[in-house]
Amino acid sequence: MLIKLAFCILASNPKRFILKQITPNNGSSKEALLEQIAGTKQSIKEQLLENGALMFRGFDLKTPEDFEEVALALEPGLQNNYAGTSPRNSRTKFVHSASELPGHYPIMQHCEMSFLPTAPRYLFFFCYVEPQDGGETPVCDFRKVYDQMDPKIRKEFERRGVKLIRNYTGPKTKTGKDVYQLKRWDELFKTTDHHVVEEEAKKNELEVTWMDDDRLKLVNSRPSVLEHPDTGEKVWFNHLQVFHREAAAIEYKHIYKRRGDLFSLKYMIALNTITFFKRLFKKPEDEAMHMVFADDGSEIPKSYVEHVEQLIWNNLEAEPWKRGDVLMIDNFSTSHGRLPYKGPRDILVAWSA
Ligand SMILES: [Fe+2]
Repeated sequence: MLIKLAFCILASNPKRFILKQITPNNGSSKEALLEQIAGTKQSIKEQLLENGALMFRGFDLKTPEDFEEVALALEPGLQNNYAGTSPRNSRTKFVHSASELPGHYPIMQHCEMSFLPTAPRYLFFFCYVEPQDGGETPVCDFRKVYDQMDPKIRKEFERRGVKLIRNYTGPKTKTGKDVYQLKRWDELFKTTDHHVVEEEAKKNELEVTWMDDDRLKLVNSRPSVLEHPDTGEKVWFNHLQVFHREAAAIEYKHIYKRRGDLFSLKYMIALNTITFFKRLFKKPEDEAMHMVFADDGSEIPKSYVEHVEQLIWNNLEAEPWKRGDVLMIDNFSTSHGRLPYKGPRDILVAWSA
């Protein structure tokens, strides 16, 4: 009876199987895991292609160096260039902090750097310090988001593409900083030389405009959808649910529904209030991040963002972290994000081309 009940629960919740767990075959030491990876590499690749995300759990991994070794065993082509938006600190040659954004701020689901022509192929996360309250790194199958989208809206995105707008402060900026500030342009490009910034931006097809008060505007247009390089499946592959000015306020409504506590109620109200006043007093193109349609630069309706975020939450899988976990993600099919948290949390990241 109990087995039948458990089967019914699992069968009624197919989302459980997006994030596949890989546990010890023959010992839980780091060396045993490296052996397990070497002996099952083909199967790991196949499972990743099908599931989109794999969680290596139950292995005795303690340090950023252990994580780096495991990630390199899974994918030798790790990279350490980063042109994304999150503030990050490096821990080893290829390992960084996942994000230094404050714990209460939600990181909405995204395929890493989908706004650049050089988006990474695989991502790796490591649980160095296990969060006690929230702080999951949920994943979502963006092939399903594409498939389940209202065909009219999907067609519009496919036809029109998306334009991303980012506004960075600089080392000499004095006025009008945002409540939630991205890193500064000199931190992003690791230089204060305008010429070097312009050269780097050109490589990533970013249009550069130097603004008053040492500010930098970066604009680029991208397709909304990607064809998976191995399977040909269509994937929702853009940052609408991160960059759009309405996105964070919408996200917090879902978070409050999930957590139902005072912590998320407080920040849901705060983010919705900030967004309300920005709508009144700030031009969308002056936001730290925003997204519009690429063909004529017109606004993407809030209802579209709500629709996409609802689909994402319908397909979201959020497994609480355990210390030593390694999460491997196919960035060309599966998104990741971060739920808000309280207390200590240290999740590390690495990625490959
Ligand atoms: Fe990310």
